[in-house]
Amino acid sequence: MNKPDFIPYAKQWIDEDDIQAVVDVLRGDFLTTGPAVAQFGDAVAEVAGTKYGVAICNGTAALHAAVAAAGVGPGDEVITSPITFVASANCALYVGATPVFADIDPRTYNIDPDDVERKITSRTKAIIPVHFTGQPCDMDQLRAIAQRHKLVLIADGAHAIGASYQGKPAGSFADMTTYSFHPVKQVATGEGGAIVTDNPDYYEKMLLFRSHGITRDPAKFRFGHQPWYYEQQTLGLNYRMTDFQAALGLSQLKKLPMFLQRRREYVHRYNEAFQNMPGIITPWQSPDGESAWHLYILRLRLEQLNVGRDQIFQELWDRGIGVNIHYIPVYYHAYYRDLGYAKGLCPQAEKLFEAMLTIPLYPAMKEAALERVIDTVLAVVKSHLR
Ligand SMILES: Cc1ncc(COP(=O)(O)O)c(C=O)c1O
Repeated sequence: MNKPDFIPYAKQWIDEDDIQAVVDVLRGDFLTTGPAVAQFGDAVAEVAGTKYGVAICNGTAALHAAVAAAGVGPGDEVITSPITFVASANCALYVGATPVFADIDPRTYNIDPDDVERKITSRTKAIIPVHFTGQPCDMDQLRAIAQRHKLVLIADGAHAIGASYQGKPAGSFADMTTYSFHPVKQVATGEGGAIVTDNPDYYEKMLLFRSHGITRDPAKFRFGHQPWYYEQQTLGLNYRMTDFQAALGLSQLKKLPMFLQRRREYVHRYNEAFQNMPGIITPWQSPDGESAWHLYILRLRLEQLNVGRDQIFQELWDRGIGVNIHYIPVYYHAYYRDLGYAKGLCPQAEKLFEAMLTIPLYPAMKEAALERVIDTVLAVVKSHLR
């Protein structure tokens, strides 16, 4: 018998118009920063409901640029979630600051604002909540905490382009919100990212940071004036996005409403299929927000099963279902252990991590694949009910 096709947990959707958009740039004058880069930054800002957007080479660089613009530095602490990709915490280390982990809310898996407040010290400079799976964090409470303690609020929106909170784009609630356009995300540019903000000072700083700290604007020069002159004013990096990536991003953004609609439809199908199944808890959605549904995570009721999460993972994988784990708590990683972080910091996150299982979700998923995921998950879980 042939093995059934493997269904990945995520995959990009590329049409002919996306390909044409890239080819048009390749035939033009600019390969790296050209007009599409600025247009893409603006377009992301429009989706996010902010004044400014900076397109950048990836979501990690976006976080780095944001913490640098916020003035986070050596001796500072930055509070983030342990249930995230390592970049949300690593960005603090890049600028010499210390990541501090606050526990998660067991319903949304997003950072728990009460625990954020408990973890604030005189050294805390910023909070980096992550809109995990695309579901917006409790921005009302996080904003209030940030204001009360004079902290910069940087939302890691890598999962959340197109999400909304209280009827408005979720990207408009933090001082800065960062995005990733890696191919598993809703909008793909290969590698790619952006930061959005309403703050002109952060915006200017991030533009400089993206390109070595160099300005070419004569109005801003402190020293020279010659026609060939440019001036490095701060320490930045080469974090530029290319024009062909930005053109792909612009083309992809036009399809974002359709992508989100399909994701919502598939989520609805999963919820219907799994909500009454013993052994499984479907994702809980706060009425305050509308998720952009980057990931669909099943939580296993381990007390009802005769095996652990890893056995269920393996059996699904062996049947061609691209399951995944989002995420290993950041401070479990060897690098963080070497820095002195230890298990026990965030009990909710640690407990939930043992029970979480991501199943495939992407707009290009075919009906037959969706049905296969549903049938296989139900069969595997059923075979392990106590
Ligand atoms: C929550 C989160 N933050 C940041 C990133 C980093 O984005 P990139 O891979 O584009 O550098 C990712 C990417 O996986 C992510 O999931």
